[in-house]
Amino acid sequence: MKSAGEPQGADPRDERKGEAMGPKAGREEPAGMPAAHPGEKTDYDTLCRQAEELLKQEPWYVSALSNLSALIYAALPDLNWAGFYLLRDGRLTVGPFQGKPACIHIPVGRGVCGTAIGRDETLNVPDVHAFPGHIACDSASASEIVLPVHADGRAAAVLDIDSPRPNRFSAEEEAGLKRLVRVMEAGLRFPPAGGE
Ligand code: SME
Repeated sequence: MKSAGEPQGADPRDERKGEAMGPKAGREEPAGMPAAHPGEKTDYDTLCRQAEELLKQEPWYVSALSNLSALIYAALPDLNWAGFYLLRDGRLTVGPFQGKPACIHIPVGRGVCGTAIGRDETLNVPDVHAFPGHIACDSASASEIVLPVHADGRAAAVLDIDSPRPNRFSAEEEAGLKRLVRVMEAGLRFPPAGGE
């Protein structure tokens, strides 16, 4: 039973974020981690600056993509998954992400992620159930946006963001995320093609 004064119906993600993102004595905060609230607009100028700062501190793709997925998951409200799939041995393999465990391999041309990298274009899907071949890693997902990430002129990965809210990603959000991906591409250090 809840005691008087305890928040009712609070989003558990807020509590988790407070714990994970709040200032801790003696701990270095990488870039002033944000905390999103449902329905709130994302400030992409700030997000791009934070991403730049993280990439400056460590451009190696494993560290950078880990922190970038955490940054996106914390800054954008109403998400259930945010992370990366990397092109490896001719197929997409799951990389750093936030959310529930996801499908490990996605063939190029399959699902939203495989289609986005196959065509080398952003796919903004307002209703995943209407997308032929959508791969449902988390049944909570209702809409999804997938953006290719390039290294040395080739599409090397995708940024995949899922929301439990239909039609979550407006044209304005898509433009903001494209800017964020340009920042990543400028700062990331990927392994050379075929390397680890
Ligand atoms: N829905 C994606 C699969 C990845 S999960 O959403 C994390 C797709 O159709 O490619």
